[in-house]
Amino acid sequence: MQEIDFDKIRKQVDIVKVISSYIPLIKKGKNYLGVCPFHNDSNPSLTVSYEKQIYKCFSCGASGNVFTFVKEYEGISFIEAVKKVCQLSNLPIPEFNERKEKQIDDHDSRLYKLMDDLKNYYMYQLDLSKTAKDYCEKRFLSKDVIDNFGIGYAPSDPKLSVQYLISKGHSLDDILLVGVAHQDSLHQLVDNYANRIVFPILNSDGHVVGFSARRIIDNDEAKYINTKETKIFNKGSILYNYHQAFKYVFKEKVLFIVEGFMDTIALYKCGVKACIATMGTALTNEHVNLIRRFKGEIRLMFDADKAGRIATLKALKVINDRTINVRVVKKLENKDIDELLNSYGKDYVLEQINKTESPLEFILTNTFDEYNFNNYEDRRDYALNSLTMLKNLDLQPLDVEYYLGLIAKKAMLNQQVIKELYYKQLNKKKVVSKTNKQTLIISEFRDRFEVAERILIKLLLNDVNACRILDNAQYYYIDNSDYQQIVMYIMNEYSKYNDNRIDGLLDENKRLFDICMEIDSQEYEPIEINEIIKILSEEKLKFMQKQELKNSLLKEIDPRKQAMMIKEQLKGGKK
Ligand code: UTP
Ligand code: MN
Repeated sequence: MQEIDFDKIRKQVDIVKVISSYIPLIKKGKNYLGVCPFHNDSNPSLTVSYEKQIYKCFSCGASGNVFTFVKEYEGISFIEAVKKVCQLSNLPIPEFNERKEKQIDDHDSRLYKLMDDLKNYYMYQLDLSKTAKDYCEKRFLSKDVIDNFGIGYAPSDPKLSVQYLISKGHSLDDILLVGVAHQDSLHQLVDNYANRIVFPILNSDGHVVGFSARRIIDNDEAKYINTKETKIFNKGSILYNYHQAFKYVFKEKVLFIVEGFMDTIALYKCGVKACIATMGTALTNEHVNLIRRFKGEIRLMFDADKAGRIATLKALKVINDRTINVRVVKKLENKDIDELLNSYGKDYVLEQINKTESPLEFILTNTFDEYNFNNYEDRRDYALNSLTMLKNLDLQPLDVEYYLGLIAKKAMLNQQVIKELYYKQLNKKKVVSKTNKQTLIISEFRDRFEVAERILIKLLLNDVNACRILDNAQYYYIDNSDYQQIVMYIMNEYSKYNDNRIDGLLDENKRLFDICMEIDSQEYEPIEINEIIKILSEEKLKFMQKQELKNSLLKEIDPRKQAMMIKEQLKGGKK
């Protein structure tokens, strides 16, 4: 059977026509508008672009190409959707090698089944083990909590669980593939999580795809051992308790993001069920795409220590999107939620988690950790940098007043002087930029080259001419590997079809498509493509040379040799 060319089908059909056969669309400017069928609404928030051949809902965030629309709308498989699209567009309906498709699905389902069997086995073992039950009791994990989170225990004999899986008909290959066991020196398969309390980790569809196992004895082994990346477990796109949390989030109206298992469980004990955890890693763009469809408040509550503050700043940087309403729980004393609950009880926790601040307030009070506030020059620099950040935002007068007060207090400087300085700078600035609030937060705390990379992508997505110009560029550097792949995709599309469509990217790599959607939804400073290329070529090159010099200087201890190196570099730069 021949391979089906999805690309070719997509190029022959028109998304506007196909979607029109499901919902009425009206033309508005370059695009078409309709009422989004993917959430409950009566306003026309769905935009369909003829040029880009994609759709996007500005209310619920649903987006995709002609195939995904039909797939989601009809609730059918991808293959069926392709057939339907052909039928609606009067194209011959292709025949698929459905057996092959099915085999792929079958293998994943086998792996899901394996993980589910193992989870049940661990839960059963917990019930049998006094040590494990004692530990749970010590951590106040009641029967209800254990059942709700599927908590289990991996027996201390590491061969038992593997034997169990084999008895259930799972193959050794599969057991290795999902990362739950490894081969010991005698080539026997042994459980990676032996003698630990185990938390199953579910993907957004509710399948167990990984485990995290906590030690129950205080020793110097790792506190948690986590499943490594596998075919079904992709860390960057998994959030702990996501599947459960989204059953409650629309009712509770606030989605908490915390660091770990025990925090999630502590909130659950307090009756707060819409909570997910990043499991100690940084929040990724994919995570953000998972939570985007929730339109209520996202509340960040990481640990109050320095690591937690840095994690919060990073998370705010990643969530930086005007369509997401995010707030930060005010700094608690240096304890995590689980500890607070155990020390002060439920009412106290419920009170504390409702004391929140805006991202800007959090940034103003936490970004500048590097300043020494005992020292006037540092306080002055803090104030000046904060003012620069503030004046780039489009704030209400009352808010301005509030934040100026905050800066003055933190810098221990006269508020009146700070205020005058602010308005003086603002008047100077006004003529230059009318850009919106979101833009500038981004340029404040994203790396300059990363912003340039994002602007490049936005330009390529919206103007074929930009592709032509980039195509003629001699060289340019893109650091972010996702952005690299996106630019490569668009440029490949351009050289093949002379267009800049990315609807095909969706079928190849949904994650990258979502990143494109996210980049396209933001406003940036208006910069010409030539200017961007210059930043990503000459300026970037100079920057990299400087970094290189810095690194080699650090390695060189002889000052004479250091001087030589600087001289060499200067010579090179002038050429
Ligand atoms: P914490 O050290 O704050 O753990 O790490 P915790 O959740 O409070 O757990 P307890 O109360 O000490 O039992 C936060 C999260 O970071 C990840 C886990 O997901 C943890 O929940 N982590 C931490 C690891 O993956 N490995 C580790 O060794 C430690
Ligand atoms: Mn803890």
